[in-house]
Amino acid sequence: MAPKYVVTGGAGFIGSTIVRALLREGASRVTVIDNFSTGSEENLTQVRAGIELHRIDIRETKEVEAIPRGAKAVFHQAAIPSVPRSVSEPELCHGSNIDGTFSVFTAAQRAGVGRVVYAASSAAYGNNPELPKRETMLPEPMSPYAVQKLVGEYYASAFAACYGLETVCIRYFNVFGPRQDPKSPYSDVLSLFLDAALAGRAPMIFGDGEQSRDFIFVEDVARLNLLAAKAEGVSGRVFNGGTGGRITVNEAWRTIARQLGVHLDPTYAPPRTGDVLHSQADISQTRRALGFEPQYDFADGIAQTIQWIKTYERAAA
Ligand SMILES: NC(=O)c1ccc[n+]([C@@H]2O[C@H](COP(=O)([O-])OP(=O)(O)OC[C@H]3O[C@@H](n4cnc5c(N)ncnc54)[C@H](O)[C@@H]3O)[C@@H](O)[C@H]2O)c1
Repeated sequence: MAPKYVVTGGAGFIGSTIVRALLREGASRVTVIDNFSTGSEENLTQVRAGIELHRIDIRETKEVEAIPRGAKAVFHQAAIPSVPRSVSEPELCHGSNIDGTFSVFTAAQRAGVGRVVYAASSAAYGNNPELPKRETMLPEPMSPYAVQKLVGEYYASAFAACYGLETVCIRYFNVFGPRQDPKSPYSDVLSLFLDAALAGRAPMIFGDGEQSRDFIFVEDVARLNLLAAKAEGVSGRVFNGGTGGRITVNEAWRTIARQLGVHLDPTYAPPRTGDVLHSQADISQTRRALGFEPQYDFADGIAQTIQWIKTYERAAA
């Protein structure tokens, strides 16, 4: 029988990309668990026939038992993925990001799931200026969100050590690509740039724009998840999910503006307090243990994202 997979947060940006990647790889059954709080059913429209969709809040422990017995892997993506929201609504985010994660691990262990791949975050590294970020660095969480995502990692390793549940954590860096919601106030800088360029507006950049990020295309993140579900001898471990490179915010704007044929200079505002200056993953462990090699460079990923936005907007018009 073909293996069964579960994606929590499967109606979200990254989760829905993992769902597609699983179906492309020939998965016969993909169960999606989502409460549509930040994700949407629209993200799954084209693959609706290939999935089993459960509107479930992962904080409802009982309901998470929708995880099918003997599933090969659970890709746990459900979370409220926002630093500012975790500051303004810490209780709500704690509920989904910590209590919900605990429910998912518990249900996965009871259902005899083969492995849980957990969406962790590079927010764990906080303001430590050392580059590139290595998984062995001491975490320095600076926000409730960073703490919440780290607690998920710690639960992953505890479930692996105490209950024999196989777990792998991937600390995503700055993920971008189709289906990232540019309208969300918590949207990533690239979504905001794309939105501005398409509307013919100059973007606002906080600081001098020379801050840099390890931007990773969402298809690479999905492939990395699939590799993490299969790799041997990696249970209980944490891996960086980045490209190993970094792009400045100014370069990011120039790439987007060039591809859209826009000639606008950004406006600059004072830097935001607490913003990390640079971020870059060391992916040597990810390469070695999971066999991961990014397949998209930044310009490729932006081109695919623009293509998707244009197609989607034409379809929506
Ligand atoms: N986007 C990034 O750059 C990034 C970076 C680091 C980590 N992450 C992590 O990756 C994961 C996916 O993030 P994303 O960018 O796709 O965000 P997203 O908001 O698009 O996806 C999150 C999904 O989880 C669902 N969800 C939230 N709370 C839930 C609950 N209580 N019960 C059931 N479903 C719930 C939402 O409806 C949504 O579909 C998150 O765990 C996030 O913390 C993302």
